[in-house]
Amino acid sequence: MRVVVLGSAAGGGLPQWNCRCPNCTLARTEPARVRPRTQSSIAVSADGDDWLLINASPDIRQQLFDNPSMHPREGLRHSPIRSVLLTNGDVDHVAGLLTLREGQPFTLYATSGILESVNANRVFDVMAEGVVVRKTIGLGSSFEPLPGLTVTLFAVPGKVPLWLEGAQVEIGAETETTVGAMIEAGGKRLAYIPGCAQVNDDLRRRIAGVDALLFDGTVLYDDDMIRAGVGTKTGWRMGHVPMRGENGAIDALAGVEIGRRVFVHINNTNPVLVEESPERADVEAAGWTVAHDGLSLEL
Ligand code: MLT
Ligand code: MN
Ligand code: ZN
Repeated sequence: MRVVVLGSAAGGGLPQWNCRCPNCTLARTEPARVRPRTQSSIAVSADGDDWLLINASPDIRQQLFDNPSMHPREGLRHSPIRSVLLTNGDVDHVAGLLTLREGQPFTLYATSGILESVNANRVFDVMAEGVVVRKTIGLGSSFEPLPGLTVTLFAVPGKVPLWLEGAQVEIGAETETTVGAMIEAGGKRLAYIPGCAQVNDDLRRRIAGVDALLFDGTVLYDDDMIRAGVGTKTGWRMGHVPMRGENGAIDALAGVEIGRRVFVHINNTNPVLVEESPERADVEAAGWTVAHDGLSLEL
């Protein structure tokens, strides 16, 4: 199985268009110290030819341009992306669907909870009926988005997308709106969980023994955004478990057998984004890789 991290940042990317926080500033002025990153997406393949895109970020056009294995390679119109899977309905995971117009056939997979919010929004009809097939996938049932690649979706603690939040928001519920994907090919297993509010026993059991885990690295501490002075929201309020601190993912997953541990969906305020920072050294010493765009894994 081949895995390419197309975009390793959370919503907004790095630098974020309107942000002058220290990380966003360094990403503009000293990209060797803070590498710019595009928004959350990966691609997975069993054979290196046909690819499953997981989450369609607003930066998808740039991401496909930057990765030659995603370029069209036959006839006049073609794409190696045969299928697209969504793990939640956040803007950073669905807005790129608008770029996948132009009459290119593929299959779009998501749970009913996620697909309903796409279906309810007519702008997504640019993925024309009869060209793009939308398939609802139930939790726990396996499907084959590409020959030789099997995917199973499971609920993780999360919340509804920000743009669908009402007056009351339930955080940490395990529903169809925030899911993880277990991807299997050639006897190898990858767990992809870019959004997760909490690590619990269910999650630990489910991912035990995977060859690689790509996991929610939005915030280092629950109060990153507050410390950075850019907002009042905690990681918890955004539906994201911190790497460190109380209930941090690094400790919560320390006893679980996992081949390769990689943080993805990293918010631009996260101090681990600074190369050679003590925070980066700390998570690496704990066995984690901080993903950058273009990081690829061979499982
Ligand atoms: C998130 O992951 O919390 C969302 O992407 C936030 C957003 O929609 O900007
Ligand atoms: Mn997000
Ligand atoms: Zn910033």
